[in-house]
Amino acid sequence: MSEKPSKYYVTTPIYYVNDKPHIGHSYTTILADVLASYHRLLGIPTHFLTGTDEHGQKVQQAADANGITPQEQCDQTVVRFQELWKRLEIQNDDFIRTTEDRHKTVVQQTLQELFDRDEIYKAEYEGWYCVGCERFFTEKDLVEGNCPECNRPVDKIIESNYFFRMSKYQDWLIDYIESNPGFIQPSFRANETLGFLKNKELQDLCISRPKSRLAWGIELPFDTEFVTYVWFDALINYISAVGYKSDEEQFKKWWPCSTHLIGKDILTTHTVYWPTMLKAMNVAMPESIFAHGWWLTGRTKMSKSLGNVVNPMDMIDSYGVDAFRYFLVAEMTLGQDASFTEEAFVKRYNSDLANDLGNVTNRVLNMISRYCDGQMPSVSKGDFDTELEEALWKETVAAADEMGPMIGNMKLDASIGLVMTAVRKINVYLQERAPWSLAKQEGTEDQIAYSLYTAAECLRVCAALLYPVMPEKMLALRTALGMADAKPQLDKLTQFGVLASGTEISQPGALFPRIEVEKKDEKPADKPKKQKQKQQQPQKKEEPSKDGLITFDQVMAVNLKTAVVLEAEKIEGADKLLKLQINLGEEKRQLVAGIALHYTPEELVGKTIVVVANLKPAKLRGVKSEGMLLAASIGDNLKLVTVEGEMGPGASVK
Ligand code: MSP
Repeated sequence: MSEKPSKYYVTTPIYYVNDKPHIGHSYTTILADVLASYHRLLGIPTHFLTGTDEHGQKVQQAADANGITPQEQCDQTVVRFQELWKRLEIQNDDFIRTTEDRHKTVVQQTLQELFDRDEIYKAEYEGWYCVGCERFFTEKDLVEGNCPECNRPVDKIIESNYFFRMSKYQDWLIDYIESNPGFIQPSFRANETLGFLKNKELQDLCISRPKSRLAWGIELPFDTEFVTYVWFDALINYISAVGYKSDEEQFKKWWPCSTHLIGKDILTTHTVYWPTMLKAMNVAMPESIFAHGWWLTGRTKMSKSLGNVVNPMDMIDSYGVDAFRYFLVAEMTLGQDASFTEEAFVKRYNSDLANDLGNVTNRVLNMISRYCDGQMPSVSKGDFDTELEEALWKETVAAADEMGPMIGNMKLDASIGLVMTAVRKINVYLQERAPWSLAKQEGTEDQIAYSLYTAAECLRVCAALLYPVMPEKMLALRTALGMADAKPQLDKLTQFGVLASGTEISQPGALFPRIEVEKKDEKPADKPKKQKQKQQQPQKKEEPSKDGLITFDQVMAVNLKTAVVLEAEKIEGADKLLKLQINLGEEKRQLVAGIALHYTPEELVGKTIVVVANLKPAKLRGVKSEGMLLAASIGDNLKLVTVEGEMGPGASVK
């Protein structure tokens, strides 16, 4: 930060409680935590808010599917988020739930005020509604008849509703974004919003849902037949949590927010709905809205239906919290998408943490033990040449100085890279100075002491700079260097001579033990037994043809039949699976299908589907499945293969 701000208020999106948290949620929350931690260390009053978005159709549907009330659904799922944040060492100052009274009251007061000022009006609405996104679209918005945001099918809806006069703020918003370049970040996201605003007429925003369709929401204070739209409710969390309409002093202290961190998928709601809402409410704009990219699995979008979602708890169990936090922050260039693979994780862990940071820590601590009786050596410069030490210290200080502006510019990954370069330089220095060689000469005690002291001081600084990302391990490292108060303070960081000479150092054990991976490219000689076994096995499977084509006989071997769904139900503990009872003409069978995220049990009953009738029975999650249904899918969109017109069960499909 070039200029030290007087306060720092950072938010994450509030997460839906229809499902357990995944890596995307973890990422935004870790990012906010790292930013908050840096600001706190700089002595800047900091407020970090996260929470949960507990109203709306998704929660209602999840509750219905689980056979519990929406409030029970919220109460059960919120714990998962809170537990994960604890495990991820997240130091949020507040956690808001939109079902709390402190929030609901503010939403209702805001609605009433806007209604009284004619910013909200009632009208008949006809349009297309996406249940997944909980948003309305016009005919023109649709892409090939589907939702332009998530590509899922939309429902036609005609009903009376309340509207926020968003359209009247279109020109103001364009002007505001253009005259405040840092408002939406990265800048290409500002251009995206501007493109959207300049290329089409902004519609008024439908901010109500009739209770007959959705009861789980905050009631409109001026019409009890309606609840408010989940986004109108959710966005207000950023101000209700810091005292808007309830604690003026608190609100003045924190608002406007410094940074709303969001994922790129919720750009429009944050850069169009939210600013226009605030404008209508006469509330100041947030200073910045930063949209990060997506974590992909390899090159594919993570999605529940593809089964490739990374579970943060599994990663923490396998590799530890700090390493997980480090990987997420170091690997993603803020703003861009990034790929998460365990292979990439292990590679970065071994090279940055086990090799570089782990290695330099061991070397410094071991040499202090060996050559300085395990006590922090003396700072005094002798009359020996200290050029190397001075250069190393200068480079470390430069890294610390550069880090502030980088973080201010949201270049978190680059700032971590900078510190890691400084860590590597300590290693290079040790190699060059070679205290172990000096130890073989007479009269070099002072020089060894000064050399190891300098290396320890540089390590102290690097550990402080990495503390926001890896709090637990960096505290352990600094404690091992003999610091009584190991929690760093960044503004006192670059003073030479902070480590107290004569204090005992300790050995923290391996901070980052190397992860041993089985090499995939081992030569046959490395694995003689396995290779031999493989060669001796007769080839049972027919080799697929090189051109990828199959024969007519192979096609005919698959027996496809129509079937009518008689019953459908969820399988406990398997959120993607449904158990179906089907009529195959001459027989009834049970199928297990991974379509629960796309179809409710109710909408399946009576449908004529196509199934592979001669598939060997198998058990999925302990439930017998006798066949497989056919479905077409692309991305998150999945549709069952059905037959056109009248066709009973048991017809063969060719
Ligand atoms: N409830 C709304 C936000 C309301 S804020 C007033 C919501 N919730 S969410 O739980 O669906 O998503 C929360 C955040 O997780 C979004 O910022 C979204 O971008 C992020 N992620 C979900 N999957 C992700 C990845 N695979 N990678 C990175 N972040 C992604 O939207």
